[in-house]
Amino acid sequence: MKIAVITGASSGMGKAFTKQIAKKYIELDEIWVIARKKETLEELKKDISKLRILPMDLTDRQAFNEFHELLKRENPSIQILVESAGTGIQKKVEDTAVDKLCQMTELNCTALTAFIGLCLPYCKKGSRILCLASGAAFVPQPGFAVYAASKAYVLSFARALGVEQRGRVVVTAVCPGPVDTPFLEKMGGKENMPFYKKPFIANAEAVVEKALKDSERGREISVYGFSMKALRVLCKIIPRKVIMYFM
Ligand SMILES: NC(=O)c1ccc[n+]([C@@H]2O[C@H](COP(=O)([O-])OP(=O)(O)OC[C@H]3O[C@@H](n4cnc5c(N)ncnc54)[C@H](OP(=O)(O)O)[C@@H]3O)[C@@H](O)[C@H]2O)c1
Repeated sequence: MKIAVITGASSGMGKAFTKQIAKKYIELDEIWVIARKKETLEELKKDISKLRILPMDLTDRQAFNEFHELLKRENPSIQILVESAGTGIQKKVEDTAVDKLCQMTELNCTALTAFIGLCLPYCKKGSRILCLASGAAFVPQPGFAVYAASKAYVLSFARALGVEQRGRVVVTAVCPGPVDTPFLEKMGGKENMPFYKKPFIANAEAVVEKALKDSERGREISVYGFSMKALRVLCKIIPRKVIMYFM
Protein backbone atom coordinates (compact mmCIF):
# COMPACT_ATOMS: atom_id res chain seq x y z
CA MET A 1 0.00 0.00 0.00
CA LYS A 2 1.48 3.34 -1.13
CA ILE A 3 0.77 6.17 1.28
CA ALA A 4 1.61 9.74 2.30
CA VAL A 5 1.75 10.72 5.97
CA ILE A 6 1.02 14.34 6.89
CA THR A 7 1.22 15.74 10.42
CA GLY A 8 -0.55 19.00 11.23
CA ALA A 9 -3.05 18.29 8.44
CA SER A 10 -6.02 19.99 10.11
CA SER A 11 -4.88 23.53 9.37
CA GLY A 12 -2.69 25.93 7.40
CA MET A 13 0.13 24.44 5.38
CA GLY A 14 -0.55 20.85 6.51
CA LYS A 15 -4.06 21.16 5.11
CA ALA A 16 -2.71 22.68 1.89
CA PHE A 17 -0.18 19.80 1.60
CA THR A 18 -3.02 17.29 2.04
CA LYS A 19 -5.10 18.83 -0.75
CA GLN A 20 -2.19 19.27 -3.16
CA ILE A 21 -0.73 15.81 -2.53
CA ALA A 22 -4.15 14.19 -3.06
CA LYS A 23 -4.50 16.01 -6.39
CA LYS A 24 -0.92 15.55 -7.59
CA TYR A 25 -0.03 12.01 -6.57
CA ILE A 26 -3.05 9.98 -7.63
CA GLU A 27 -1.07 6.74 -7.37
CA LEU A 28 -1.27 6.93 -3.56
CA ASP A 29 -3.66 4.42 -2.00
CA GLU A 30 -4.12 6.35 1.24
CA ILE A 31 -3.11 9.64 2.82
CA TRP A 32 -2.71 9.38 6.59
CA VAL A 33 -3.51 12.69 8.24
CA ILE A 34 -2.56 13.50 11.83
CA ALA A 35 -3.66 16.32 14.15
CA ARG A 36 -5.68 16.70 17.35
CA LYS A 37 -8.89 18.10 15.78
CA LYS A 38 -10.68 14.99 14.53
CA GLU A 39 -13.71 16.92 13.22
CA THR A 40 -11.55 19.14 11.00
CA LEU A 41 -9.78 16.11 9.55
CA GLU A 42 -13.18 14.51 8.93
CA GLU A 43 -14.28 17.65 7.08
CA LEU A 44 -11.30 17.20 4.77
CA LYS A 45 -12.26 13.58 4.13
CA LYS A 46 -15.54 14.73 2.57
CA ASP A 47 -13.50 15.96 -0.43
CA ILE A 48 -10.62 13.46 -0.26
CA SER A 49 -11.96 9.97 0.30
CA LYS A 50 -8.55 8.28 0.55
CA LEU A 51 -7.72 10.03 3.84
CA ARG A 52 -7.14 7.92 6.90
CA ILE A 53 -7.90 10.05 9.94
CA LEU A 54 -5.46 9.65 12.81
CA PRO A 55 -6.37 12.03 15.63
CA MET A 56 -3.33 12.31 17.90
CA ASP A 57 -1.72 14.72 20.31
CA LEU A 58 1.91 14.54 19.25
CA THR A 59 3.11 15.91 22.60
CA ASP A 60 1.79 12.72 24.18
CA ARG A 61 4.42 10.02 23.77
CA GLN A 62 1.77 7.32 23.80
CA ALA A 63 0.95 8.58 20.28
CA PHE A 64 4.40 7.40 19.11
CA ASN A 65 3.66 3.84 20.33
CA GLU A 66 0.21 3.80 18.73
CA PHE A 67 1.61 5.02 15.42
CA HIS A 68 4.44 2.47 15.58
CA GLU A 69 1.93 -0.36 16.12
CA LEU A 70 -0.14 0.90 13.18
CA LEU A 71 2.91 0.92 10.90
CA LYS A 72 3.85 -2.63 11.95
CA ARG A 73 0.29 -3.81 11.31
CA GLU A 74 -0.19 -2.14 7.90
CA ASN A 75 3.42 -2.30 6.63
CA PRO A 76 2.85 0.57 4.14
CA SER A 77 5.27 2.01 1.61
CA ILE A 78 5.58 5.67 2.68
CA GLN A 79 6.14 7.71 -0.49
CA ILE A 80 5.85 11.15 1.14
CA LEU A 81 6.11 12.23 4.76
CA VAL A 82 5.25 15.84 5.59
CA GLU A 83 6.09 17.04 9.09
CA SER A 84 3.94 20.16 9.38
CA ALA A 85 2.64 20.02 12.98
CA GLY A 86 4.22 22.87 14.87
CA THR A 87 3.56 25.58 17.38
CA GLY A 88 5.12 28.85 18.46
CA ILE A 89 4.88 31.43 21.22
CA GLN A 90 6.09 34.94 20.60
CA LYS A 91 7.11 36.15 24.06
CA LYS A 92 10.27 36.54 26.07
CA VAL A 93 11.40 33.29 27.71
CA GLU A 94 11.02 34.83 31.18
CA ASP A 95 7.37 35.72 30.40
CA THR A 96 6.41 32.22 29.21
CA ALA A 97 5.33 29.34 31.45
CA VAL A 98 7.87 26.52 31.47
CA ASP A 99 5.36 23.93 30.29
CA LYS A 100 4.57 26.13 27.25
CA LEU A 101 8.27 26.44 26.46
CA CYS A 102 8.62 22.66 26.63
CA GLN A 103 5.50 22.05 24.48
CA MET A 104 7.23 23.92 21.65
CA THR A 105 10.30 21.71 21.70
CA GLU A 106 8.20 18.57 22.32
CA LEU A 107 6.13 19.16 19.19
CA ASN A 108 8.56 20.98 16.89
CA CYS A 109 11.61 18.82 17.69
CA THR A 110 10.83 15.63 19.65
CA ALA A 111 7.65 14.57 17.84
CA LEU A 112 9.12 15.46 14.44
CA THR A 113 12.23 13.40 15.20
CA ALA A 114 10.23 10.45 16.55
CA PHE A 115 7.89 10.36 13.54
CA ILE A 116 10.77 10.48 11.08
CA GLY A 117 12.51 7.71 13.03
CA LEU A 118 9.34 5.61 12.97
CA CYS A 119 8.57 6.24 9.28
CA LEU A 120 12.07 5.88 7.82
CA PRO A 121 12.09 2.03 7.72
CA TYR A 122 8.89 2.25 5.64
CA CYS A 123 10.32 4.81 3.16
CA LYS A 124 11.57 3.05 0.04
CA LYS A 125 14.15 4.36 -2.43
CA GLY A 126 12.70 7.47 -4.06
CA SER A 127 10.54 8.47 -1.07
CA ARG A 128 10.48 12.06 0.11
CA ILE A 129 10.35 13.78 3.48
CA LEU A 130 9.42 17.45 3.89
CA CYS A 131 10.10 19.06 7.26
CA LEU A 132 8.50 22.41 8.09
CA ALA A 133 11.34 24.46 9.49
CA SER A 134 11.07 28.26 9.07
CA GLY A 135 12.97 31.37 8.06
CA ALA A 136 13.27 31.74 11.85
CA ALA A 137 15.88 28.97 11.60
CA PHE A 138 18.33 31.34 9.87
CA VAL A 139 19.08 33.58 12.86
CA PRO A 140 18.36 33.57 16.63
CA GLN A 141 15.26 35.65 17.40
CA PRO A 142 14.95 37.41 20.75
CA GLY A 143 11.26 37.38 21.74
CA PHE A 144 10.78 34.19 19.68
CA ALA A 145 13.83 32.42 21.06
CA VAL A 146 12.61 28.86 21.67
CA TYR A 147 10.59 28.72 18.45
CA ALA A 148 13.53 29.96 16.34
CA ALA A 149 15.87 27.53 18.10
CA SER A 150 13.45 24.66 17.52
CA LYS A 151 13.34 25.49 13.80
CA ALA A 152 17.15 25.73 13.64
CA TYR A 153 17.09 22.17 15.01
CA VAL A 154 14.66 21.09 12.25
CA LEU A 155 16.82 22.67 9.54
CA SER A 156 20.04 21.12 10.86
CA PHE A 157 18.41 17.71 11.39
CA ALA A 158 16.81 17.67 7.92
CA ARG A 159 20.08 18.60 6.21
CA ALA A 160 22.07 15.91 8.00
CA LEU A 161 19.37 13.29 7.43
CA GLY A 162 19.31 14.20 3.74
CA VAL A 163 23.03 13.41 3.50
CA GLU A 164 22.60 10.15 5.45
CA GLN A 165 19.81 9.15 3.06
CA ARG A 166 21.48 10.33 -0.17
CA GLY A 167 20.39 8.14 -3.10
CA ARG A 168 17.49 6.74 -1.10
CA VAL A 169 15.21 9.37 0.46
CA VAL A 170 15.10 13.08 -0.44
CA VAL A 171 14.78 15.29 2.65
CA THR A 172 13.71 18.92 2.17
CA ALA A 173 13.59 21.55 4.90
CA VAL A 174 10.85 24.06 4.10
CA CYS A 175 11.80 27.52 5.38
CA PRO A 176 9.08 30.09 4.76
CA GLY A 177 8.82 33.51 6.32
CA PRO A 178 5.42 34.43 7.78
CA VAL A 179 2.61 32.54 6.04
CA ASP A 180 -1.05 33.54 6.17
CA THR A 181 -2.43 30.65 8.27
CA PRO A 182 -4.11 30.36 11.70
CA PHE A 183 -0.57 30.16 13.09
CA LEU A 184 -0.20 33.93 12.51
CA GLU A 185 -3.40 34.59 14.45
CA LYS A 186 -1.99 32.58 17.37
CA MET A 187 1.09 34.85 17.20
CA GLY A 188 -1.16 37.87 17.79
CA GLY A 189 -2.36 38.48 14.22
CA LYS A 190 -0.95 40.24 11.19
CA GLU A 191 -1.79 43.66 12.67
CA ASN A 192 0.49 43.16 15.67
CA MET A 193 3.35 41.67 13.70
CA PRO A 194 6.68 43.55 13.76
CA PHE A 195 6.71 45.97 10.77
CA TYR A 196 9.78 44.34 9.21
CA LYS A 197 7.99 40.98 8.90
CA LYS A 198 4.81 42.26 7.18
CA PRO A 199 6.21 42.48 3.61
CA PHE A 200 7.22 38.81 3.88
CA ILE A 201 3.71 37.36 4.45
CA ALA A 202 3.12 34.56 1.94
CA ASN A 203 0.16 32.49 0.79
CA ALA A 204 0.05 28.91 2.16
CA GLU A 205 -0.94 27.24 -1.15
CA ALA A 206 1.97 28.92 -2.96
CA VAL A 207 4.52 27.97 -0.28
CA VAL A 208 3.31 24.36 -0.39
CA GLU A 209 3.32 24.19 -4.20
CA LYS A 210 6.93 25.39 -4.25
CA ALA A 211 7.93 23.01 -1.46
CA LEU A 212 6.54 20.01 -3.38
CA LYS A 213 8.35 21.12 -6.55
CA ASP A 214 11.63 21.63 -4.66
CA SER A 215 11.27 18.20 -3.07
CA GLU A 216 10.67 16.63 -6.52
CA ARG A 217 13.86 18.34 -7.71
CA GLY A 218 15.76 16.82 -4.79
CA ARG A 219 16.46 20.15 -3.08
CA GLU A 220 17.59 20.12 0.55
CA ILE A 221 15.92 23.45 1.32
CA SER A 222 12.84 25.25 0.00
CA VAL A 223 12.64 28.99 0.51
CA TYR A 224 9.60 30.78 -0.90
CA GLY A 225 9.79 34.30 -2.30
CA PHE A 226 12.51 36.74 -3.25
CA SER A 227 12.44 38.57 0.09
CA MET A 228 13.02 35.40 2.12
CA LYS A 229 15.81 34.30 -0.23
CA ALA A 230 17.41 37.73 0.20
CA LEU A 231 17.05 37.46 3.98
CA ARG A 232 18.74 34.06 3.94
CA VAL A 233 21.72 35.50 2.04
CA LEU A 234 21.89 38.53 4.37
CA CYS A 235 21.86 36.23 7.40
CA LYS A 236 24.95 34.53 5.96
CA ILE A 237 26.94 37.70 5.26
CA ILE A 238 25.88 40.20 7.93
CA PRO A 239 27.23 39.51 11.45
CA ARG A 240 24.57 37.86 13.61
CA LYS A 241 24.84 40.56 16.30
CA VAL A 242 23.98 43.28 13.78
CA ILE A 243 20.87 41.43 12.54
CA MET A 244 19.74 40.74 16.10
CA TYR A 245 20.26 44.40 17.03
CA PHE A 246 17.87 45.50 14.26
CA MET A 247 15.33 42.81 15.21
N1 LIG B 1 2.49 30.25 9.41
C1 LIG B 1 3.72 30.70 9.49
O1 LIG B 1 3.96 31.91 9.50
C2 LIG B 1 4.88 29.74 9.50
C3 LIG B 1 6.12 30.19 9.04
C4 LIG B 1 7.19 29.34 9.02
C5 LIG B 1 7.04 28.04 9.47
N2 LIG B 1 5.84 27.62 9.95
C6 LIG B 1 5.74 26.23 10.41
O2 LIG B 1 4.95 25.53 9.49
C7 LIG B 1 4.24 24.48 10.15
C8 LIG B 1 2.77 24.61 9.84
O3 LIG B 1 2.33 25.86 10.32
P1 LIG B 1 0.93 26.49 9.94
O4 LIG B 1 1.17 27.91 9.66
O5 LIG B 1 0.24 25.65 8.97
O6 LIG B 1 0.24 26.42 11.38
P2 LIG B 1 -1.25 26.07 11.85
O7 LIG B 1 -2.23 26.52 10.84
O8 LIG B 1 -1.34 26.59 13.24
O9 LIG B 1 -1.22 24.47 11.88
C9 LIG B 1 -0.51 23.77 12.86
C10 LIG B 1 -0.90 22.32 12.76
O10 LIG B 1 -0.23 21.61 13.81
C11 LIG B 1 -1.18 20.79 14.49
N3 LIG B 1 -0.80 20.63 15.88
C12 LIG B 1 -0.56 21.59 16.79
N4 LIG B 1 -0.29 21.04 18.00
C13 LIG B 1 -0.38 19.70 17.83
C14 LIG B 1 -0.23 18.59 18.70
N5 LIG B 1 0.08 18.75 20.00
N6 LIG B 1 -0.40 17.34 18.20
C15 LIG B 1 -0.74 17.16 16.89
N7 LIG B 1 -0.87 18.18 16.02
C16 LIG B 1 -0.71 19.42 16.48
C17 LIG B 1 -2.50 21.57 14.38
O11 LIG B 1 -3.60 20.71 14.47
P3 LIG B 1 -4.55 20.53 15.78
O12 LIG B 1 -4.70 21.86 16.41
O13 LIG B 1 -5.79 19.96 15.19
O14 LIG B 1 -3.81 19.56 16.62
C18 LIG B 1 -2.39 22.10 12.95
O15 LIG B 1 -2.86 21.15 12.05
C19 LIG B 1 4.59 24.62 11.62
O16 LIG B 1 5.61 23.72 11.92
C20 LIG B 1 5.08 26.05 11.75
O17 LIG B 1 5.99 26.18 12.80
C21 LIG B 1 4.74 28.44 9.96
